[in-house]
Amino acid sequence: MLTNTKPDEKIFQKNSTTGSYWITTFGCQMNKADSERMAGTLEKMGYTRADNELNADLVLYNTCTIRDNAEQKVYSFLGKQAKRKHKTPSLKLVVAGCLAQQEGESLLRRVPELDLVMGPQHVNNLENLLGKVDLGNQVAATEENFISEDITSARRESSICGWVNIIYGCNERCSYCVVPYVRGKEQSRYPNAIKSEIQKLADANFKEVTLLGQNIDAYGRDLPGTTKEGRKENTLTDLLYYVHDVQGIRRIRFATSHPRYFSKRLIQACYELDKVCEHFHIPFQSGNDEILKQMSRGYTIKKYKNIIENIRSLMPDASITADAIVAFPGETEKQYQDTLKLITEIGFDQVNTAAYSPRPNTPAAVWSNQLSEEVKKARLQEINDLVEKTARSRNKRYINNIESVLIEGLNPKNSSQIMGRTRTNRLTFVVPKNIDFNFSLGDEIDVRINEARPFSLTGELYL
Ligand code: SAH
Ligand code: SF4
Ligand code: F3S
Repeated sequence: MLTNTKPDEKIFQKNSTTGSYWITTFGCQMNKADSERMAGTLEKMGYTRADNELNADLVLYNTCTIRDNAEQKVYSFLGKQAKRKHKTPSLKLVVAGCLAQQEGESLLRRVPELDLVMGPQHVNNLENLLGKVDLGNQVAATEENFISEDITSARRESSICGWVNIIYGCNERCSYCVVPYVRGKEQSRYPNAIKSEIQKLADANFKEVTLLGQNIDAYGRDLPGTTKEGRKENTLTDLLYYVHDVQGIRRIRFATSHPRYFSKRLIQACYELDKVCEHFHIPFQSGNDEILKQMSRGYTIKKYKNIIENIRSLMPDASITADAIVAFPGETEKQYQDTLKLITEIGFDQVNTAAYSPRPNTPAAVWSNQLSEEVKKARLQEINDLVEKTARSRNKRYINNIESVLIEGLNPKNSSQIMGRTRTNRLTFVVPKNIDFNFSLGDEIDVRINEARPFSLTGELYL
């Protein structure tokens, strides 16, 4: 923070509001993408990145509230900064993201040291909101907001792989989930805006893009247009065809897919389009139809298995990952076993698991058939063991394969190894046969895999 500001000197006045910033991001890829945009705004305003959270002039927590433990983590971080603010009153404290949206103004009362509480729909207004803070206000921005086309440039963490939001919000009402309440209604970006962002990434030498949405299959539902045959135009499938020709981009990914809307047309597009990678993240949440109904998911296990069969019939080696919840209210031992059975039957490459956590405003939170903490803990432990076992045996299929790996950097734990990912999104460490091997970030290299762990691979450069 600059002191000695002379009020009559405009330039100093501007700088006096800036200094160094620190952002901690909790939660999912959506929040990571939002943090990159907010970092871009702060740098445009003149802030520089701090090397340490404890000496930053502005601290921003981009928060998550998907489960209670995510929420509690934020409060413990916040407590430390609130204390620091008593010693350093010029510290600016911002809480953004999903917890900010959930709590709104009440967060300002709970933590009076806060300067700004802002929901995810206000990410592009950060500069404006900080302007209000500079006038001496405590600000809460959580009203419903149309997300204006992104005018900020993101400060991206990677120089090779970029996130590109294509749809914000979620119109589903899964009975356990807080996301629709904190991220608002679905808002799709226009295809030309998405393509021009991808073009900009390509111009800056990025090689991979991941299209993002909480329910990405819903992309385009709120956009105008139907085809001659009466089919809705501007679906995710149409978008993949539309952005595929951006020169320089080598890999396209997308997440998160919802089984309710995952179409055969989409699978066909992924098969036909070279750049679209053979990795599908399709959460199933439970392996039991009755629980799926209670969760309001809108599909059956038969339908889910059918999607996976269709994918595998065209792309037999595709990687399939998912999310699952155990100990949902009323889940019997038998219903829980159905989830374990599905994991073994499908042979997932990875499953993100969680024990059910009651969330504010969600229907399931007030049901009387909640399960005990002991049951939650035991089921979570058992499913995690199974997921690891399954992933380990799935990964064995890579041994002796020649895989194309996109170089993202060096192994942070062993800088003699290159780090990258396969098209199927497996983290891969590469031991160059010749240590002088000349490579650049963003190169795609052929690697012979010789070691497989549950969640990563190691191989040698294959020349
Ligand atoms: N849109 C995605 C998921 C977004 S939330 C989808 O529909 O699948 C990420 C994951 O968090 C979910 O897939 C779910 O497995 C988990 N999750 C969401 N709410 C939860 C809750 N109340 N308790 C435990 N896990 C939850
Ligand atoms: Fe939550 Fe369901 Fe929307 Fe996914 S689809 S974000 S689980 S409400
Ligand atoms: Fe968390 Fe919000 Fe993502 S609640 S999982 S950060 S959408």
